[in-house]
Amino acid sequence: MDLLIGHEGMLGRAWKQVLERKETPFVAVSRPDFDLTSSASLERITDGTYRRVINCAAWTDVDGAEDEEERATEVNGHAVGRLARRCASAGSVLVHYSTDYVFDGQASEPYAVDAEYDPINAYGRSKAVGEAAVREAGEQHLILRTSWLYAPWGNNFVLTMRRLGAQRDALNVVDDQRGRPTSAQHLADASYRLLEAGARGTLHVTDGGECTWYDLAKAVVETVNPRCDVQPCSSDAFPRPAKRPAYSVMDLGPTEALIGTMPDWRANVAAVLAQA
Ligand SMILES: NC(=O)c1ccc[n+]([C@@H]2O[C@H](COP(=O)([O-])OP(=O)(O)OC[C@H]3O[C@@H](n4cnc5c(N)ncnc54)[C@H](OP(=O)(O)O)[C@@H]3O)[C@@H](O)[C@H]2O)c1
Repeated sequence: MDLLIGHEGMLGRAWKQVLERKETPFVAVSRPDFDLTSSASLERITDGTYRRVINCAAWTDVDGAEDEEERATEVNGHAVGRLARRCASAGSVLVHYSTDYVFDGQASEPYAVDAEYDPINAYGRSKAVGEAAVREAGEQHLILRTSWLYAPWGNNFVLTMRRLGAQRDALNVVDDQRGRPTSAQHLADASYRLLEAGARGTLHVTDGGECTWYDLAKAVVETVNPRCDVQPCSSDAFPRPAKRPAYSVMDLGPTEALIGTMPDWRANVAAVLAQA
């Protein structure tokens, strides 16, 4: 039996689809019934009950974390540490997700899995605390760093561009941040395959290829309104509380050696838009 925490979030919903498709027995929990910060919730992970605990829950308000770093760190850092220790003592493998924001965003070539981290913002620092706590709790974990998540559901850039592109004649989108988009469905599926391949430790999972937000927006808008004029602009045009990385491409080599090439982002975006 697997335990899926946070099944109503963007990635949690994708994981639920994968477990159902694979006919894997699982229990799905979410707030308020199961809160990562509650010891009563964690006590439900008893010895031998869950083979794997898949944690899709997190504080994901990146800009909000700037003013509330302590609360973000409680969820993404300390609570994750308690979850990891509970899993280690109960004999469950913990699957946990982290982010490209644990890096400084100043690189010019893909960040290796073992590159030193230097989080770019408060959310990144909170996730880095969580990563370290999971590693400290024991060996039986899989930390998957990902970036730029999108899905046919939830609040995400791909669905926003699709909506705005259909409504407007012109859009300005930042072209000075380069990274790798990630379909939540691809991420859940790749996570499952990595587990089946016996992967442990830390790995990166994203779509293949790389792009800027402008490239991604253009690809999405073309599918709904080819007449909409998508123009590149600099990040200065959209000031936000949390700093964003100029470059956050993460190396996929070790992941691809285990489960094969990651599909290109254009193919994954098309597959998601076909369902939305
Ligand atoms: N989205 C991205 O672009 C991105 C990029 C890199 C990494 N990640 C990581 O990928 C993972 C999945 O992200 P996502 O985009 O799927 O997140 P999401 O859609 O925001 O879902 C997060 C879920 O966590 C729940 N949650 C928050 N605090 C909780 C708590 N204390 N106890 C239990 N549940 C709690 C939320 O419930 P409520 O609805 O009740 O708040 C929500 O259902 C996270 O670890 C995130 O840090 C995401």
